[in-house]
Amino acid sequence: MTKRYVSGIQPSGDLHLGNYFGAIAEHLSIQHLPGEAYYFIADYHALTSLKDADKLRGYTRQIAATYIALGLDESKAVLFKQSDIPEVQELTWMLNCVLGVGVLLRCHAYKDKVEQGLMPNAGLLTYPVLMAADILIYGGTHVPVGKDQVQHLEVARDLASAFNSAFNTELLVKPEVHLSSSPMVPGTDGKKMSKSYGNTIPIFADKKTLKKRVNSIVTDSKDPSKEPLDPETCNAFAIYSLLNPSDKVESLRQRYLHDRTMKGYGVTKQLIVEDLQRLFGDAYARYQELVDPDNLEIDHILAFGAKRARIRAREILTKCRRATGLD
Ligand code: TRP
Repeated sequence: MTKRYVSGIQPSGDLHLGNYFGAIAEHLSIQHLPGEAYYFIADYHALTSLKDADKLRGYTRQIAATYIALGLDESKAVLFKQSDIPEVQELTWMLNCVLGVGVLLRCHAYKDKVEQGLMPNAGLLTYPVLMAADILIYGGTHVPVGKDQVQHLEVARDLASAFNSAFNTELLVKPEVHLSSSPMVPGTDGKKMSKSYGNTIPIFADKKTLKKRVNSIVTDSKDPSKEPLDPETCNAFAIYSLLNPSDKVESLRQRYLHDRTMKGYGVTKQLIVEDLQRLFGDAYARYQELVDPDNLEIDHILAFGAKRARIRAREILTKCRRATGLD
């Protein structure tokens, strides 16, 4: 059976290294595997938290421009905007009707919001149902996501079974998790990199901003001329490790432990800035071109992606309408 990878990324903030290693890099490498790949910008999902039209449009554009600038190949992967496929809402409704509310009340992402004292909207509660429809409507077999989404994937699998058994069909495919191979990406303060902690390092930014963010990485106050530095607890070292092959990581480790001429953590930070420029510098100019709203390239790319995705979505939704008796 053809593997069909389906994944989404929410346009709810500026993209950072956590997004890159946790999702984007994975998506870009998957496009070279045999099979099909569908990647969408989850703008319906973003509405659960974002209530600012200009920002939503801006973040959406930013994601599309980032994928294209970093090498998404349109002949291999379908890139589109979730809301360009309104069929997904119709399947969401059908799935809502085969699911007990208790399952949604038990989802961690929802419970966390409630525990933080947020007054959750109904969209946040039914978020996993929309996410399931996102996958099932393309017949996704593999879903590249990070650990935090595994429970939502369980709901998607259960929903496929629940729909099939309620309507006595084999129509919906149970998707499997394709866990991101990247370890947790630490932010500048050592906690998981996340826009809600304000500890992010952007993928694309001018050199000055990059330097400023990298310099804000929190480190301890050891004196490098007198004592060994500890690579295991050093946040800058952890970020350096994500950006470099193991031999380079090993040689920096040796410097931490044995090189007392090393001038402290500034060295690591300087290396990180150089690495970021090496990794993303070339793509940055292309990104800036694409992200400009006057440049219609992105609009065309997304329209083309939506056209392809919609053909597939309609095919499955037509069958679902038959199976449920709506048609
Ligand atoms: N919930 C995912 C996240 O926040 C984004 C997402 C929406 C998604 N729909 C999806 C991921 C479908 C995979 C498949 O990361």
